[in-house]
Amino acid sequence: MCGIVGYVGKRDCTQILLDSLSKLEYRGYDSAGIAVFSGGGIKTCKTMGRIADLKEKINSECSDLCGSCGIGHTRWATHGEPSDVNSHPHGNAEISIVHNGIIENYQKIKDFLIKRGYVFESQTDTETVAKLLDHYYDGDPMETIRKVLGEIEGSYALGIIFKDFPDRIYAVRKDSPLIVGVGEDEAFIASDVPAILKYTRDYYLLEQDEIAVLDNGKAQIYDKHGALLEKELKTADWDMEAAEKGGYEHFMLKEINEQPDAIRQTISPRISDGIPCFEECGLTAEKLAAYRNIFVVACGTAMHAGLVGKYVIEKLARIPVTVDVASEFRYRDPIIGEGDLVIIVSQSGETADSLEALKLSKRRGAQTLAIVNVVGSSIAREADMVIYTHAGPEISVASTKAYSVQIAVFYMLAFLLAYSRKQISLEECKRLTAVLESVPEKLGEILKSEKTCQFVASQLVNSENLLYIGRGLDYALSMEGSLKLKEISYIHSESYAAGELKHGTISLVTESMPVIAVATQHDLFEKTVSNAKEVKARGGKVIIVTQEDTEVGDDVADHKIGLPSIDDLLMPMLTVAPLQLIAYYTSVLRGNDVDKPRNLAKSVTVE
Ligand code: AGP
Ligand code: GLU
Repeated sequence: MCGIVGYVGKRDCTQILLDSLSKLEYRGYDSAGIAVFSGGGIKTCKTMGRIADLKEKINSECSDLCGSCGIGHTRWATHGEPSDVNSHPHGNAEISIVHNGIIENYQKIKDFLIKRGYVFESQTDTETVAKLLDHYYDGDPMETIRKVLGEIEGSYALGIIFKDFPDRIYAVRKDSPLIVGVGEDEAFIASDVPAILKYTRDYYLLEQDEIAVLDNGKAQIYDKHGALLEKELKTADWDMEAAEKGGYEHFMLKEINEQPDAIRQTISPRISDGIPCFEECGLTAEKLAAYRNIFVVACGTAMHAGLVGKYVIEKLARIPVTVDVASEFRYRDPIIGEGDLVIIVSQSGETADSLEALKLSKRRGAQTLAIVNVVGSSIAREADMVIYTHAGPEISVASTKAYSVQIAVFYMLAFLLAYSRKQISLEECKRLTAVLESVPEKLGEILKSEKTCQFVASQLVNSENLLYIGRGLDYALSMEGSLKLKEISYIHSESYAAGELKHGTISLVTESMPVIAVATQHDLFEKTVSNAKEVKARGGKVIIVTQEDTEVGDDVADHKIGLPSIDDLLMPMLTVAPLQLIAYYTSVLRGNDVDKPRNLAKSVTVE
């Protein structure tokens, strides 16, 4: 969810808005735009592409865009492809808005407005807010805003300007971040501190449902009932680099901690009457239930997410799922065709092998579904159906929050498939969906309280080799844990089916070969424990990742990472967090470039 900026003061705002937006580029975006009070009205200039393209468009088409009050936006598309018309600001010469977040009930509002004669230009959820403001506007901006906030659901940070009130900006915050900067007779709104650091270090943090009014360079903040608030003025002591990471040392740690919100943003809009719903991409329950075979094709972490999807879909829906590495799938002459579903998973939506596997699947007559994080990416455009994960931009090369939202989508597909194939009851489908909805809060608790991982990393930092072992879902997680460690710490590690250890690999185990045993599944716990004991008996060091209510003796493990308990089937949503953190802290201890590990690219767009 990208960038919002706004300026009210005595200076010309166009350059300030553009400069502030450029400080938010690190968040990743696909379009940009500004709206300025100019010549007695609101003038807008916006474009798909980079801020440089916006500057060019302003110079060539909107050179009269000058004024002392305006708003700006960098878009990370969630509803509607990246395009000029879908870019923000949205609205008209009377009212203009910029929005970060997702309006979950936008379709209902859009239908309501269309019935009242409104014509929509864009495919975005944001435009419904702009037109709803227009619908309710009666000359009182605060009253209008309160009416609109009473109707929209979802996450939003909004910057709003009204033609009748030049030199005034209204800002609202619910779930998506927004700050109010204050300078010498000038005020700012921004999604993040970097955007204002050049002008001021002093700012207010907008809390949930608060409304800021920036007027003639001053700022006042109200609660949702209209009461004026006394807010603590904060001072940013960050440098620019630190500020871009929201105060975290690395994007990876920031993105690990964004997982609860990313999961919330991905699942909430797709739960209707307590069960998953993918009507948005035309994937009805009936359609889903009619597929003969399901194939999941992806690379790296995305493929590991597919492994979790396989276990869960097969366990619940009793339909065969094959998981392939895309670079293998393409060349093994796969037996796929009419009636099969091929699911391509990709954070970037640009991975060459995955894109080619998608094209091959279509040529063979299979239906294709993409689970993608980047709206409008090549894989998204090529697939028959798309489910967008709303993780927001993932900057760090090591994928973390994208993995979590990918498996969250797989869980929802599995629940819906199982219910539509009458393998589980409606009550069970609702129960499982409710467990999934409880994940963000439990994950947040883990991330807030996790201290063992840093200590465990200190025990691993000098290792040359390392084993991850697990069974069932824990085996799939051990693969992701191993890849995370390898790619950012450069320690060689491999994941192994715990039951397979004694068939050869245990010969590698010595006191200098730590083993991370992932054992969160109650029905397999004792078996994995016996494998851990085999390692201990040979002098190996064992770290066990398990549910906190399980007893672990000294003969089993040297260290235990305990996780809050939820349904075993959904434990992967929590288990991945310590595995990510162990890799992160080990990489930091080894002094590596955590966000840009050697030899790696964020998106492998070549074969
Ligand atoms: C994951 O941490 C790696 N960066 C890599 O394995 C990645 O998952 C893989 O390249 C697939 O990328 P995609 O999801 O963008 O297709
Ligand atoms: N959901 C809005 C859109 O797709 C805003 C996305 C954002 O946060 O940039 O345009």
